[in-house]
Order: sequence, then C-alpha cells, then structure tokens
Amino acid sequence: MRLTLLFAGAAATAFVHPGLLVSSSDLSRASRHIAAGDNPWAASWADLISITYSQPNYVSQAVHELDRDTDGQYLWQDAAAAFNLALRWKIEGNATYAAASARILTSWAKTLTALIGGDDAYLSAGLQGYELANAAELLRDFTPFADSDDFTSVKKMLEDIFLASNIFFLDHLDGSEHNVLHFYANWELAQVASVMAIGVLTENQTTWDFGVNYFKNGSGNGCVNNAVYAIVEEPGTTNGTLLGQGQEAGRDQGHSAMDVQLLAAIGKQAWTQGVDLYGYNNSRILLGTEYFARYNLGYDVPFVPYDNGIVSQTVISSASRGAIRPTWELLYSHYVQIKGASAPWTSQYLKTSLTFFGGAFEGGAGSWGEGSGHYDGLGWGSLLYHMDAEDLAVVLASNGTASATATVSAVDASVSAGSVSTGAAAANNNTSFASLATTVIVRLTTTVCPCATASL
Ligand SMILES: *[C@@H]1O[C@H](CO)[C@@H](O)[C@H](O)[C@H]1NC(C)=O
Ligand SMILES: *[C@@H]1O[C@H](CO)[C@@H](O)[C@H](O)[C@H]1NC(C)=O
Ligand SMILES: *[C@@H]1O[C@H](CO)[C@@H](O)[C@H](O)[C@H]1NC(C)=O
Ligand SMILES: *[C@@H]1O[C@H](CO)[C@@H](O)[C@H](O)[C@H]1NC(C)=O
Ligand SMILES: *[C@@H]1O[C@H](CO)[C@@H](O)[C@H](O)[C@H]1NC(C)=O
Ligand SMILES: *[C@@H]1O[C@H](CO)[C@@H](O)[C@H](O)[C@H]1NC(C)=O
Ligand SMILES: *[C@@H]1O[C@H](CO)[C@@H](O)[C@H](O)[C@H]1NC(C)=O
Ligand SMILES: *[C@@H]1O[C@H](CO)[C@@H](O)[C@H](O)[C@H]1NC(C)=O
Repeated sequence: MRLTLLFAGAAATAFVHPGLLVSSSDLSRASRHIAAGDNPWAASWADLISITYSQPNYVSQAVHELDRDTDGQYLWQDAAAAFNLALRWKIEGNATYAAASARILTSWAKTLTALIGGDDAYLSAGLQGYELANAAELLRDFTPFADSDDFTSVKKMLEDIFLASNIFFLDHLDGSEHNVLHFYANWELAQVASVMAIGVLTENQTTWDFGVNYFKNGSGNGCVNNAVYAIVEEPGTTNGTLLGQGQEAGRDQGHSAMDVQLLAAIGKQAWTQGVDLYGYNNSRILLGTEYFARYNLGYDVPFVPYDNGIVSQTVISSASRGAIRPTWELLYSHYVQIKGASAPWTSQYLKTSLTFFGGAFEGGAGSWGEGSGHYDGLGWGSLLYHMDAEDLAVVLASNGTASATATVSAVDASVSAGSVSTGAAAANNNTSFASLATTVIVRLTTTVCPCATASL
C-alpha cells in the first residue's frame, strides 16, 4: 500500500501495479471463480471472451487525427478491445491476447497525432485517456511489450496527447473556461480519472498528485465537492441520513449516471494505490450515489437550486430517469462490503442494474451496445469486483481490519448477482476457458436504453 502518498512532500514511493481499476487481488479472485465455474464471474467471463472486442484478431482502427464527433468510436472501441484482451491475458495467461492488446495500443501510439474537433476532443482525452492507460497498465509485465520501445511510445502518446490535454483543461486554459464551472462535472471527472491513470502508468508522482489534489480541491466541477454539489437530508428520515445532490441532477439523469460511473472509477483507482478517495469528506461519493439511486428508483429527493452563472436550475430533471451505467457492483463491493457502510439505495440500484443487464451480471464496454455512452467506462463489475463472503474475508484480512462489521453485509443474498444468475455456465462449474467461449448467456441485443446519452 502506498501510504506515503498521504504525507505531503514525501519522497516518491513505488506505485502499486497493476494499480488502477484492476488490482492483482481482483484478478486472482476472478481467475479462481472462473476456474471453479462460479457465477457471476464465469457467466460474465463467458460474455467477455465471446464479443468482437475481445478477439485476438481484432484490427486496430487507429487514425492520425481523431474527431470524436465523426469517428470517436474508432478510439473508444479500440480502448475497450485493448482492455478486454489485456484482461484475457491476465486471466488465461495466453500471450496471444497480450500481444493483440499491445498491437492495438502501439498502433495508436504510432498513428495518432492529435485529438481534434473542438471541445469534444477533451472528452476523448479524458474518457479514452483513462481507459487506454488502464489497458496498458495490465500489460506492464508482458515483457515483449514492456521491454520494447512500443511501451515507451504508448506512454509518450498518453502523456503528450492525452495528459497534456487533461491538464490544460483542468487548468482552465481553454477560452470557454473563463467561468471555471462552465463544463458539467462529467467533463472534468473524466480528466481527473485520466490524469490519475496516466500518473500510475508512467510512475509520475507529480501527475498523480495533480489528479488527487484536483479531486479534493480543484476549482471546477471535477472537484468532488462540486461534482456532488449539495448535501441534503433524506426525506422521511429524522436521524440525519444524508444524500449528495449531483452537479448534473438538474440537467438529466443520463449524465448524472455518467458522473456516478466516473466517481466510482476515480475512487477505485485511488483505492488500489492505497489512497481513500472513496471515503473523502464523509464519503461524499457515496452520498452522491445514494441521492442518484434514490431518485432514479422513483423516490423523491430534495433539490437545492443550482446556478453556475450560465444555467439556472430550480428542479431536478426527470429526463432519462432510471439511467443505468455498469458501475454498481463496484460501488456495492466497496461501500457495503469492504467499508460496511449503510448504502440502501446503492444496494437497491445494483439489483436494478443487474436486471437491466439481463439478470446475471453487469456488462462491460463492447458488450451492451454501441454509442459513446456505452464506452465511458470499462465495466465488467461482476467479473472484477463481485465478492462472496470468503473473498471479502480475504480482502479484510489483507487490510488488517477485523471482519466483524463487514461480514454482516458480505452475503446479502437478495443483492448477490450470483444468486440470480442463469444460463448454461451456471449449470457447468467445471467449464474450461475454451469451452466457455461457446456458452450461451443472456446478452442485451438492443442499443436503445435510457443510458446511452451522448457524453456532453
Ligand atoms: C460445483 O457446483 C456444486 C453445486 O453448486 C458444488 O457443490 C461443487 O463444489 C462445485 N464444484 C466445483 C469444483 O466448483
Ligand atoms: C492461445 O490463444 C490462441 C488464440 O485464441 C489460440 O489459438 C491458442 O491455442 C492459445 N494457446 C494456448 C496454449 O492455449
Ligand atoms: C511528470 O509529469 C509532469 C506533468 O504532470 C511533467 O511536467 C514532468 O515532466 C513529468 N516528469 C517526468 C520525469 O517525466
Ligand atoms: C486548495 O487550493 C487553493 C488554491 O486554489 C490553495 O490556496 C489551498 O492551499 C488548497 N488547499 C489544499 C488543502 O490543498
Ligand atoms: C435512519 O432512519 C431510517 C428510517 O427512517 C432507517 O432506515 C435508517 O437505517 C436509519 N439510519 C441510521 C444510520 O440510523
Ligand atoms: C466537505 O464538504 C463540506 C460541505 O460541503 C465543505 O464545506 C468542506 O469544505 C468539504 N471539506 C473538504 C475537506 O473537502
Ligand atoms: C483498510 O480499510 C479501512 C476501512 O475498513 C480503510 O479506512 C483503510 O484506509 C484501509 N487501509 C488500507 C491500507 O487499505
Ligand atoms: C473438469 O473437467 C476436466 C476435463 O473434462 C477433468 O479432467 C477434470 O477432472 C474435471 N474436474 C473436476 C473437479 O470435475
């Protein structure tokens, strides 16, 4: 654990690797459960390895100049493929997949010269910045890549094109940012996630600190105190139960869902490095997810008028109410299981999310439809973050924390994805990796959903 980070001015210490959305314990837990055929891990894995964006013959779509509005999908699809293939390598140990992932990343590094097309270029820099860095982070011990110039060129692309843009944006140097609150939270949260991810990938303490400090103390909406804009009391409670109104609540719920997704990713990337942003300022992220989940489940929430000098909102927006992004396994496993926190609405939203995804597991990028909104996060929470009671005990033991409080919520069977899983994989718990590929599982076939809001 990277505890020296907590002390300002401490000498740089080794970063944890793999140290972002996927930790080594996430990988070993997933591998163990897949090998045993346990769900939801096995069914989720079967889905991951079945999609186009996880195949070793996937062909990179790298372009010289990437305009998000016309061909953004080339980058977000390739980022998903690079990540999925890197995961396949980590879990299956077959170098063919690592080489395929490295090929995609390297082709972008050798081709891309600029993200163009006006302000939307920042969205690519942020969203695909953190996704690409997460893919590369998984490959850093694949020596044919890591020991070659290719890894250097991938890191250089991420620093020169993505990180430079992330920092420029968060420094509010873009003309339209004379009002530092001009851009909605999702824009800045994406930059923060990217800065942190590239900081770990390049082992650059300055970069990492910039991201963490911005999250805590930035002046724009990527600071958690602005992203979760107002703390309100939950209706019907008199015991001081708090909720956190999101900065985009008065805009629509699709973007609010995206903010939750990005906050969860930021929290996880930090947690893997031993930095507790999830708990920062009275677990402000959780207060935000509880507010979002309660409202999107159909219940009322208080709304504090929002005015940033550009928009003025006096009521919460019901547009795209019920929006789903695959992020609730992560929030549940962290807050309810690891922290033992009370998170009734977040727990309920995990069930809603699982139902949306077909009942068995939360999807991942490339598995549940096309359009930018399906690629703003990498997902696969049921594969990477779902924990049974034994898993939780291991996590808590490694943290040196007594398991007493958390085991109470460890196996909330009503919420456990495994308990509602269906499909062929569940019937055969000794399925080899290869035969899992042909397993028939429930998958969404529609691209029409309340969540596919464009990322603006
Ligand atoms: C297979 O599943 C059965 C029933 O759930 C369980 O009792 C058994 O331990 C499992 N075997 C393995 C190898 O996971
Ligand atoms: C590795 O994966 C490739 C591509 O799927 C496959 O052709 C090959 O047989 C696998 N190798 C092993 C040792 O499983
Ligand atoms: C670390 O990143 C910062 C930007 O965050 C950059 O200015 C600096 O040159 C980098 N340091 C190294 C050693 O690459
Ligand atoms: C927060 O940022 C302000 C400047 O924007 C700075 O004066 C202050 O020291 C920072 N606080 C912390 C705790 O970093
Ligand atoms: C607060 O009260 C609500 C019911 O009004 C209850 O469900 C909840 O568990 C209480 N929370 C705490 C922290 O006591
Ligand atoms: C925590 O949130 C409160 C209430 O919004 C705010 O006043 C305070 O500055 C925040 N503290 C930190 C350390 O961010
Ligand atoms: C251990 O878990 C507790 C929460 O139970 C957390 O506050 C603490 O930061 C964790 N420590 C490490 C080193 O991860
Ligand atoms: C699983 O299947 C393989 C191949 O069919 C077989 O060799 C192995 O003994 C089986 N393991 C269990 C625990 O049933």
